[in-house]
Amino acid sequence: MTIEEIRKIRDEALAEADAAADAASVEAARIKYLGRKGLLPKIMESLKDLAPADRPEAGKLSNELKNGLAARLEARKQALGQAAPARAAGLDWSLPGRWRGLGSRHPVSLVIARAADIFRSLGFTVADGPDIETEYYNFDALNTPGDHPARDSQDTFYFSSGQPATAGKLLRTQTSPVQIRVMEKQKPPVRIIAPGRCYRRDTTDATHSANFHQIEGLYVDRNVSLADLKGDLTHFARQMMGADVRIRFRPHFFPFTEPSVEYDFSCHVCGGKGCRVCKDSGWIEISGAGMVNPKVFRAVGYDPDEVTGYAFGMGVERIAMILYGIPDIRMLYDNDARFLAQF
Ligand code: DAH
Repeated sequence: MTIEEIRKIRDEALAEADAAADAASVEAARIKYLGRKGLLPKIMESLKDLAPADRPEAGKLSNELKNGLAARLEARKQALGQAAPARAAGLDWSLPGRWRGLGSRHPVSLVIARAADIFRSLGFTVADGPDIETEYYNFDALNTPGDHPARDSQDTFYFSSGQPATAGKLLRTQTSPVQIRVMEKQKPPVRIIAPGRCYRRDTTDATHSANFHQIEGLYVDRNVSLADLKGDLTHFARQMMGADVRIRFRPHFFPFTEPSVEYDFSCHVCGGKGCRVCKDSGWIEISGAGMVNPKVFRAVGYDPDEVTGYAFGMGVERIAMILYGIPDIRMLYDNDARFLAQF
């Protein structure tokens, strides 16, 4: 090789390094010139054939090729590296992201959370109990006689005797058994709410579902009275529905309370004038309640001469329906994203 040829190779090599458009071209240039079978080893090989006077110049050129090219290839690689991964993976980082819509809380969960906040502000804590209950907790301890219609297998889901783990058990028909579980573990005073799922063999329609939610409440202490129940539930209603809601208490019967009441909220949808949701009555039944029956206290080892208490069990879906103007309970269970996204 002549000096001229060597100079030409050096110039081409450096130009190729600067022009390399991607990592593969950088690597190709490295192999072409610096690789074991590349042009640089060939130049070195040919140095011995040069006239001695030309050798220093040829040595200088081949050094420039070796070190200069290596440095430029490295610089090129760095520069490409900043932008290269995205392009190499077929990504365009400047595209807007793909929107995966945020979920929202289910109206049943919203009502439970709001109710829990309101009762927490009155000093209540939140308790919990199992969905699969025994007859003892769901009925016996709550003073429900053996021939009470609620125990009928037409109203209650009983497990078959085939599975030992659930034999003789049932799906709780109410959250009231949590009262018993809490009082068995805790001495008075007690102030709890217990939100949860309940199950009944109801035929589904616009206002009934075989699966629904209740919020149980229990307040036991010395001198708790029906006036406390009315005051606390009225406060709850106003916080939940707004200051203009009206509340009415009607005498009723429950085996676990004496006296017992049911209480209604004025219909939020029509303002009490009468509409489809309240079946033209202007009122919506929200909850059963009453003063804890002394027999229930005895079942958990409390002394009914020492303490009194009130209890209630309210329907969560009912509250959600009037709070949000939902005309059919089934909408709460269809899980239609277009419906749920509104809350
Ligand atoms: N458990 C009753 C039901 O499901 C509601 C109820 C009524 C709960 C009175 C109570 C109560 O705690 O005191 O119909």
